[in-house]
Amino acid sequence: MKIIAYNVRDDEIPFIKAWGEHNEVEVDYSIDTLNSETLKQAQGYDGISCLQTIPYDEELFAEMKKMGITMLSLRNVGLDNVDLVAAKKYGIVVTNVPDYSPASIAEFAVTLALAVNRKVGYMYYQLHELGEFHFSADFMGKLISNQTVGVVGTGRIGKEAIRMFTGLGAKVIAYSKSHLTDSELNFTYVDNLEDVMDQADIIDLHIPGVPENEHLFDEAAFKRMKSSAILINTARGSIVDTTALIAALERGEIAGAGIDTLEDESADLQNSRSTAQVTDHNVLALSKMPNVIVTPHSAFHTDEAVMNMVNISFNNLMQKLIGSEVNNLAK
Ligand code: COI
Repeated sequence: MKIIAYNVRDDEIPFIKAWGEHNEVEVDYSIDTLNSETLKQAQGYDGISCLQTIPYDEELFAEMKKMGITMLSLRNVGLDNVDLVAAKKYGIVVTNVPDYSPASIAEFAVTLALAVNRKVGYMYYQLHELGEFHFSADFMGKLISNQTVGVVGTGRIGKEAIRMFTGLGAKVIAYSKSHLTDSELNFTYVDNLEDVMDQADIIDLHIPGVPENEHLFDEAAFKRMKSSAILINTARGSIVDTTALIAALERGEIAGAGIDTLEDESADLQNSRSTAQVTDHNVLALSKMPNVIVTPHSAFHTDEAVMNMVNISFNNLMQKLIGSEVNNLAK
């Protein structure tokens, strides 16, 4: 049995090697993202592991079938970039890793919320853009324990976010299509997303990038939100209309944002070895705003998460290749 992993970062390599040695499976890796061209590197391998947010399209799955490769095992959770209809059409089994470390993403969302709320961006702007280093009236923040946090989506990650925000003393409200039934957490569900927009000082998104969630946060939403509110997005860029977000920030319709995921993420964003200068006009616009922290889709990135992403993805792959029941089939 031979496995190839695509788009591998240096921090994943020790976990990949350890898994291969432990399971006595030959595992090789490529630093390229996966598409119908780079797929040629997988000739002679039985299965593929990959992690990327750029598309896995029909052409890729058609080529995989031609090469006799029957499985694509993702090392991440999001499936919004996978043409699952095409995968099924060509008989390719796709798995993901839904539970690699929800706390890693939730903790980063809280980090962004605290940093924006306590004006860390303004302090960096003063030091790095103005070359000054002193107190400023602009730096005054607000205690999180005096604020209402609205968590959108109460799946694994949203639940962890609620735990962390309530631990910091915030009042938490949540909107979600499905409700936690066994929760010991101290928060209240609201009936509509609009209730979150009306009431929350910090809105924290933890919903998938499915079509029905596209641009839930648009011009109307930003006009509806409190002008003192902060938006945190570590989920998927497509949930937020980036043009509308930038306009709302410029007009002062909301007070700030922590943005880890943006619409149409580039292949370069996925390239951990890149030294290319940023050209994306949305990233550039957001990076110049002292009330915004923009990060390169890195909320997941902890040692615990990386280990689990590699191990669980490779276990899923091995289950298929040895003919046992496969966990984490993509739905
Ligand atoms: C996911 O797990 O889906 C993430 O958003 C992490 C990212 C590295 C793709």
